[in-house]
Amino acid sequence: MSSIGDTFRVKADGRRLGTVQDPGVFAEGAVWFGLEADAGEDERREGWRLTQLTARAESGDSLRVIKAPQLRQEQSDDSLRARAADVGRPFDIGAALAENPLLTDSRYRALAGSQFSMLTPENAFKPQFLHPRRGVYDFRDADLLVRFARANDMKVHAHTLVWHEALPTWMRENDDPEEVRRTMLRHIATVAGHFKGKVAEWDVVNEPMSDDEKSYTNGDRGLRSEQSPWFEAMGEEYIDEAFRAAHRADPKARLFLNEYGVEEEGERWDALYDLVERLKERGVPIDGVGFQNHEYAPGDRIDPETFRSHVRDLAELGIQARVSEMDVPIGEDEEDGQQTQADEMAGKLRVCLEEPNCTSFSTWGFTDRYGSTADTKIYPPRTADSLPWDAALRPKLAYERLLEAFDEA
Ligand code: XIL
Repeated sequence: MSSIGDTFRVKADGRRLGTVQDPGVFAEGAVWFGLEADAGEDERREGWRLTQLTARAESGDSLRVIKAPQLRQEQSDDSLRARAADVGRPFDIGAALAENPLLTDSRYRALAGSQFSMLTPENAFKPQFLHPRRGVYDFRDADLLVRFARANDMKVHAHTLVWHEALPTWMRENDDPEEVRRTMLRHIATVAGHFKGKVAEWDVVNEPMSDDEKSYTNGDRGLRSEQSPWFEAMGEEYIDEAFRAAHRADPKARLFLNEYGVEEEGERWDALYDLVERLKERGVPIDGVGFQNHEYAPGDRIDPETFRSHVRDLAELGIQARVSEMDVPIGEDEEDGQQTQADEMAGKLRVCLEEPNCTSFSTWGFTDRYGSTADTKIYPPRTADSLPWDAALRPKLAYERLLEAFDEA
């Protein structure tokens, strides 16, 4: 792709593919380059692979080449993690982190390493990235996050071994149940084995509950069925098998099931609770449940007391809880939105601090600069506003309220 005047010329394998109008992508001095290698609906096709990408500046201009930075960050007493260390029991404050900004943005890196005692890899541990072809693993990005955590005395909450999303195409291709089961078990053994002793916790199963009303009455016991190759092949058993395999691979890691939309009352929570109870009865090594706490719609804003009652229900089963992926978009009304965001986050943190079986509180990212709720389908992309630091990396009201929640505890 070359830029000539206000158009881009696109070439592949020496062949000209066409031109696109430049909507001004260089205006801000930083360019995001994205490519989609998805084969689409047709699962027989392989998609394609980018093997090389070269960027060259016109004479006179320059490109910045980013070298591996120093991972260890300066610590400060005035931070969320310093507060978390004073709670009087093991308690972690975390965020989902991404490897790209860790490498390229020194201010992101400094905050990530000084504010949090735990990190969740936002994408790097997902099968799509770790296990792109059968038997071919790529641990480079994931290992970088682990090294960053280690350099800054942070725990890694690894995410995730078994999910219906972020799967490489090949993992969806097989419909021989026995083969699917072997694929899952091998993936878990290899990946959890690779990180043995390096991660504190795993989301073993992510989002097993169904969004389809039918699943709650048709005998599936509220479990996601058609979308999940794992359920399709093994039924509910896949959950048992996944936890047992993760435990075999890394007996010291704490094993979680992670889910959204279960903070509130309703059949989704009831079904999840019943599932955990069955798992316990069958002796499945599950240690905890993560409540994602994404609050994308006003209806997601629920009384923290309801969340508390669920945390307590789990305590009775001997199960831990955590806030795993919280984010709260600000919405149209800036002032009101800031307040709501701060109240929602601090409300959940407070409950977590008060309930002894609640072990950590994590947001899904920490700055709007790289927030996952950004709308990237439009140009220029609209930045997100759901996290405690804004896009200029300035702390928002939510950050202050989180600090205060610790001080009150
Ligand atoms: C999201 C990431 O933030 C995005 O970058 C990615 O494109 C899709 O996945 N629940 C989860 C996370 O458990 O893994 C998801 O992460 C957000 C919802």
